[in-house]
Amino acid sequence: MSTVNYELIGDIGVIRLNNPPVNALSHGLREGIWGAIKNAQEDASKALVLLCEGRTFIAGADITEFGKPPQAPGLSEVITEIENSCKPVIAAMHGTALGGGFEVALACHYRCALASAKVGLPEVKLGLLPGAGGTQRTPRLAGVAAALELITKGSPIPAAKAESLKLIDRVIDDDLLKGALAFARELIDRNAPPRRVRDIVIDPASVPEGLFDDFRQRLEKRARGQLAPQHIVTCIEAAVHQPFDEGLTKELNLFIECLLSSQSAALRHLFFAERTATKIQGLPKDTPTREIKSVGIIGGGTMGGGIAMNFANVGIPVKLLEIDQAAIERGLAVIDKNYNITLKKGKLTEAQKTHCLSLIEGTTDYADLAEVDLVIEAVFENIELKQEVFAKLDQFCKPGAILATNTSYQDIDQIAAATNRPEDVIGLHFFSPANVMKLLEVVRGSKSADDVIATAMQLAKIIKKVPVLAGNCFGFIGNRMVRPYGREAQLCLIEGATPEQIDTVMQSWGMAMGPMAVGDLAGLDIGYKVRQGLNEAEKGDPKTYCIADALVEIGRLGQKSGAGYYRYDPKTRARSSDPEVLALIEAQAEAHGIERREISDEEILNRLTFALINEGAKILEDGTAQRPSDIDVVYVYGYGFPPHRGGPMHYADSIGLAKVYESICAFRDQHGEAYWTPAPLLTRLAQEGKTFASWTNDQH
Ligand code: 3HC
Ligand code: NAI
Repeated sequence: MSTVNYELIGDIGVIRLNNPPVNALSHGLREGIWGAIKNAQEDASKALVLLCEGRTFIAGADITEFGKPPQAPGLSEVITEIENSCKPVIAAMHGTALGGGFEVALACHYRCALASAKVGLPEVKLGLLPGAGGTQRTPRLAGVAAALELITKGSPIPAAKAESLKLIDRVIDDDLLKGALAFARELIDRNAPPRRVRDIVIDPASVPEGLFDDFRQRLEKRARGQLAPQHIVTCIEAAVHQPFDEGLTKELNLFIECLLSSQSAALRHLFFAERTATKIQGLPKDTPTREIKSVGIIGGGTMGGGIAMNFANVGIPVKLLEIDQAAIERGLAVIDKNYNITLKKGKLTEAQKTHCLSLIEGTTDYADLAEVDLVIEAVFENIELKQEVFAKLDQFCKPGAILATNTSYQDIDQIAAATNRPEDVIGLHFFSPANVMKLLEVVRGSKSADDVIATAMQLAKIIKKVPVLAGNCFGFIGNRMVRPYGREAQLCLIEGATPEQIDTVMQSWGMAMGPMAVGDLAGLDIGYKVRQGLNEAEKGDPKTYCIADALVEIGRLGQKSGAGYYRYDPKTRARSSDPEVLALIEAQAEAHGIERREISDEEILNRLTFALINEGAKILEDGTAQRPSDIDVVYVYGYGFPPHRGGPMHYADSIGLAKVYESICAFRDQHGEAYWTPAPLLTRLAQEGKTFASWTNDQH
């Protein structure tokens, strides 16, 4: 079948698009639509229906074509052709009508969609704005306030909501073609003319005073440092105050500016990185998977409870095993509290909450896990305890059940060795809060079976996580890299910075939180306990963590004890600086013979990010990560790295590996080799003028 087919059904012309997998608006599709509309002007049709084959209506411009020389007809020309049609054109949508795809629909004269369809303008998530009239037509239909929300957030909305916003005219319950043809028939029968959204005029007096300025200010918090959201506001403002064609020109100019920006390059990199991460080198696409219809979780604490929610949310029943009834109740109470938060935000109904809770059942008896397809262990971070749990799982679980651990640092092979079926054992490392954070590190043990890995990657998608495969080493990808990052934060602190300075630098650069605030949130005792378990060589220079250790030793454990690097208001949890901490830092510096100095913001930023990148290079070379973009996915989805900087490895490429290498050499000369030896891979690539992106692991 060709990309675009045309058929006359009675006096209705049906244009069918077929460009798998998602009907992206590649050159061939644009040409086909343009031609079909043009030809239909001359035939016997009285109305035209535009719909798609396959899993979805057009999901947007073809992102792979960005950055390549444009080929006519461009999307704007196609859209003009549709809008200028002398016969009414009806878009009939199913699946996800997104970006340029929804802009095509907005240029049609009427729109209908299956009830299950979603529509939206997600360009902002790629650092872009809708570049084919979306910012001009959406406010004309839905109003300015709704358009601002929809386009700056970029999240698709269900058909019913789109109908209530007047973005679509009709919701169709079952057969899309039948419904669309019936809609076309009605239009023909009542002689309905082509109805052009461009002709709607927005009365500037209908827009509340100060709306745009207030919205811009809100965006400064919600989308800190990002270009596209601010430009979207400018475009929508133009839709109110300027004629349609001038608005379109403004939109096109700002779209091009976004397209050429480093932010959009980073976000587009992440779009493909996230999808590439699901592909496992050496594992055929058709590797069989195991069916996961029920899950057991061992340990219902901070992580176990959140992990259980992920499964209940998609209808998979969970048995939650704890040490006693009191622990079960504690765990279930936290889960209940978390659901209430979602309920209050309006993202869950009472009935959905009740259903989810009914899927989570507490137990203290391993025999109750006999039939589950997957078990995830989330007990305390202690190897002997984990081995004890796995020996029991081996005894009680059915053959073929996948046995997973959520360990942060322990050796998967050592855990697997406690069973007689190491091929069924794998790491499934969730991030806290596990019901919120999107990352799932899938940690491969030396004996993990291929179908176990394939199942884990597939399962991640079902529970709406982004999976990344990691090798089995201390801290895997994420926690291994965060150690040098945290180390440099500690060293900057003792050498002269304050917690406030470090957090402000990192947050204004785009990190979701600064490292000190993260430490306080997670609990400073966690890192303390890990360090206590290390031998002297592993602990490194005693000055490195002396401040963090001293805080824990005086009972400042972070938010949970009301004080850590900051002081926290017991009621509001608002944080404030604490002179006691500064005094403690100064005392530690003196005790270690360090004369504190002024540290520039740039030094803080470079030491923290380059420490990450250097470890990332080692992780690539030793095969812990499959590819640089996997590391980027880990950092953005698990550690609050700013998406518009694309992740640490993409960021390194964007500023140039030579600069990173030279700075690391300068840090080595200043601070010594123990912490600052440039990774061999970084050295090689920098000297050859290459990028991480150009590297593939069959080269090592
Ligand atoms: N262009 C090119 N390829 C695309 C694409 C696009 N717009 N959207 C998806 N793909 C590719 C993916 O890379 C993937 O390829 P792979 O199989 O080789 O890895 C394949 O299609 C399937 O994608 P998913 O795995 O994401 O499939 P899902 O079913 O999970 O999701 C989707 C489908 C919701 C459509 C999702 O792919 C998506 O969100 N796509 C992007 C939508 C988007 O951002 N559109 C706006 C583009 S920008 C634009 O339109 C500018 C305009 O205003 C001028
Ligand atoms: P937690 O202390 O909050 O919960 C552990 C739970 O396990 C407790 O409820 C305890 O009663 C239960 N438990 C202990 N022994 C048990 C046994 N023998 N049988 C059944 N239940 C038992 O710990 P948390 O934070 O949930 O951590 C769990 C695991 O997840 C650890 O391995 C940790 O390293 C890992 N992890 C923790 C993250 C975090 O941010 N807290 C992030 C990612 C992984």
